[in-house]
Formats: sequence, C-alpha cells, structure tokens
Amino acid sequence: MGISADHIRELHRYEIRILMILERLMRRYRWVPLDILRRTIGLSESEVSYRLGRLMAMGLVRFDAVPYEGYSLVFQGYDALALISLTRKGTVRALGTLIGEGKEAVVYEALGLSELALKFHHVGQRSFQSARVTRDYMPDQGHCPWIFASRLSAEREYEALQTLHPSVSVPLPVDINRHTVVMEFVPGATLNRCTLESPRDVLSEILENVRLAYGKGIIHADLSEFNVMHDGSRIYLIDWPQWVGTDHPNAAELLVRDLGNITRYFSRRFGIEVPADEILGEVTG
Ligand SMILES: Nc1ncnc2c1ncn2[C@@H]1O[C@H](COP(=O)(O)OP(=O)(O)O)[C@@H](O)[C@H]1O
Ligand SMILES: [Mg+2]
Repeated sequence: MGISADHIRELHRYEIRILMILERLMRRYRWVPLDILRRTIGLSESEVSYRLGRLMAMGLVRFDAVPYEGYSLVFQGYDALALISLTRKGTVRALGTLIGEGKEAVVYEALGLSELALKFHHVGQRSFQSARVTRDYMPDQGHCPWIFASRLSAEREYEALQTLHPSVSVPLPVDINRHTVVMEFVPGATLNRCTLESPRDVLSEILENVRLAYGKGIIHADLSEFNVMHDGSRIYLIDWPQWVGTDHPNAAELLVRDLGNITRYFSRRFGIEVPADEILGEVTG
C-alpha cells in the first residue's frame, strides 16, 4: 500500500502526536503496551481509542493482542512522520505520484523548490532476514530492526550521493529525514525501459562514471540496467544504499560484478562486446 496524501492532510494533531510518541516508545518496545501509550499521551482513554482506531483504519498503525495488547507503527506511519517533518521544514510542498516500487524502497515524485524524488527506504519486516545476511552495514539493532535498518539504508544512500555529486552523475541530494532521502527528480527512465540512439556512447558514459565514483572511493555494488537512468541526453547512476568503499574486503569482487552486469546487458541487448579485463583496468586506473 502506498502513501495517501489525503490521509496525511487529514491527520488530527492528536494523531500526529500519537505517531510521534509511538515512534519514540518503539525504541524500547516492539509492541508498545496500550497502558504505557495511554499514560505517555496524556489524553482521555476514549480519545486515545478513537484516535488509534482512525490511525489503524488509515493503515498507519497496527495492533496485536499477542504477546500482549500493543500497538506498533508500520512503514506507512513512519512514511507519514517523515513527510510531515519534511513538509513542516519546507523541503516538500506537495506529494506527487508513485514512480517506483522496489523490494526495499518506494519512490514518489514531489514538489519542493524544484521537482523532487522522495525515496522512502523500506528495509525489513518481511525482507529483514535476508537483508541481514547480505548487508554488512547492519550492526546490532534494538527493538525495532526495520526502523533501524531503513534509517541506516537512507543514511548510507545520502552519504554516497553527497560524496559523489556533482563529480559523478547522480541525483543531487536535497535532504534526509528518518528513512527518507529527498533528491533531485531525474526525468527519463531506467535503461531497461529506454530506447538508446547510441548505446556505445551510453556504455562509455556509464563506465566513465563508475571510474569517477571509484576515484572517490565508492563502488556501487548493485549496478545494473535497473539502476541507471537516461533522460535522452545523459545518464544518472541511482540507488546507492548498498555501496561499499574501495577498501572493502570484497571491493574487487563487487566491482567486477557491477561491470559484468552492465557489459552483459549491452552485449545481450545491443551486441556490443567489450573485454571485461580491459574495462576493469580502465575503471581502476
Ligand atoms: N531521483 C530520481 N528521479 C526519478 N526517478 C527515480 C529517482 N530515483 C529513483 N527513481 C525511480 O524509482 C525506482 C526505484 O528507485 P531505486 O533507487 O532504484 O530503488 P529500489 O530499486 O531499491 O526500489 C527507479 O527504478 C526509478 O524509476
Ligand atoms: Mg533500483
């Protein structure tokens, strides 16, 4: 389920307060016990029940009676908090349409001072078990692994964009709140959905940007035709949360895999063949 701007606009200030308190209490409880929630909120019992009922109907909060009666934020509620903060701050003025929905993120178009992309990182809940195995930047987390993992994922991506922009062609990072990265909206589409006039030039441009990123100490580590966008005149490398440093123990292997994904794609789709070892040499200088 996506984010409903209508729901967020309709939130009563008590409901926003409840979301914020839930967020805070979830540092200590995976399920926040009803009595603790009531005590912390300082509203009447009936008011709290009414507000929680509305939040649940909007899909922002979840209730479970096992192991005890408790409430928990879900991604939609956490998204709402980030969006409210970004709006109050003035970074975001309007939420646009859903432009991408992957395994671990949902991306929306939005309007701020310019056109923006909002990437809400959703790492965990269902996919958390596998994420834990494959991502080595996940230190021990507290009671709420999905909040922790999603924030970390956003922070990692933001850090890469800040390091790389503008030397490497990546979206301009604009702001970050909780698990949400705000960046420049890139027009166009991912390579797998583009028709390319001169694929050979596009391939060189991608490899040149991989080389420049490497020079900044960063390897993408999830590079493929799905994470390169093309706007008709230039390419952008997107989707950076899993980047590794060039000093990472698996750096060489991950770089070879990135380059292999790209060259295989150009070979398969356009019949362009380039020797892998030659490219590796060029990229690493
Ligand atoms: N800055 C951006 N501007 C425009 N569209 C974007 C931007 N970032 C991501 N997208 C779109 O959202 C999709 C998902 O984003 P991505 O960062 O690849 O996350 P994930 O693959 O983890 O879902 C992309 O395939 C692309 O279509
Ligand atoms: Mg992607």
